[in-house]
Amino acid sequence: MSRLALVTGGQRGIGAAISEGLLAAGRRVVASYAGNDAAAAEFTARTGIPCVKFDVSDFDACLAAVAKIEAEHGPIDILVNNAGITRDAMMRKQTREMWDAVIDTNLGSCFNMCKAVWEGMIERKFGRIVNIGSINGQAGQLGQVNYAAAKSGIHGFTKALALEGARYSITVNAVAPGYVDTEMVRAVPADVLEKIVARIPRGRLGTAQDIARGVVFLTADEADFITGSTLSINGGQHMY
Ligand SMILES: NC(=O)c1ccc[n+]([C@@H]2O[C@H](COP(=O)([O-])OP(=O)(O)OC[C@H]3O[C@@H](n4cnc5c(N)ncnc54)[C@H](OP(=O)(O)O)[C@@H]3O)[C@@H](O)[C@H]2O)c1
Repeated sequence: MSRLALVTGGQRGIGAAISEGLLAAGRRVVASYAGNDAAAAEFTARTGIPCVKFDVSDFDACLAAVAKIEAEHGPIDILVNNAGITRDAMMRKQTREMWDAVIDTNLGSCFNMCKAVWEGMIERKFGRIVNIGSINGQAGQLGQVNYAAAKSGIHGFTKALALEGARYSITVNAVAPGYVDTEMVRAVPADVLEKIVARIPRGRLGTAQDIARGVVFLTADEADFITGSTLSINGGQHMY
């Protein structure tokens, strides 16, 4: 049987493209989401990929969801921590709630989900984990102390966990997208977006498929020697 992949936030935006890319690569895929039932139903109808609703910032909910998915579909060999949110505001207007929401959803979720699959991957001596970071975690961004901290944290988390996983053939990598044409970026005011695109050497926003391609590459069985790395997919905007 082909390997099972779980993509958090996998029914919309970049996550949907990742789910579809993994399916096209011959994986079985389950997508998770937070609350957008309409998008989940439409996605499942279109792709046949089942969607499971739970909050990735809730540790117990993650453990329960993974146990249920594995009971129904078998062990999860590929985990893509893609779910994320923004709550942008300059420091003067940032609230503790905005900080907590972004840290818990974007970074806490990586701990929650990795913890849920980790023992199984160790036992089977195989795993592929990809965490979705961001160019703004590498470079910082105005109005995003919360988001930049969470995404920067993901890059450190990835390297540390990669060291632990290496002896078990579990690879842990990050993908750092630049600006991608999804609802998250469509929320940016048009004049600001215009200035952002002007700074992208490739001259356009990324597509969700541009990012998915990198995730499919990093989760291949053959990608065994790539671990602890961050793949920047950003049209040349910021080079690391
Ligand atoms: N778009 C960009 O330009 C860009 C750039 C760099 C990095 N990224 C990162 O790429 C990832 C995907 O971004 P996107 O633009 O595709 O976002 P999006 O279109 O807003 O989709 C976000 C996805 O995450 C899910 N989600 C949000 N909070 C959740 C929670 N608490 N529990 C479970 N699922 C949750 C959403 O589920 P519902 O549909 O149910 O709400 C949705 O499926 C994020 O980590 C983002 O930070 C995006």
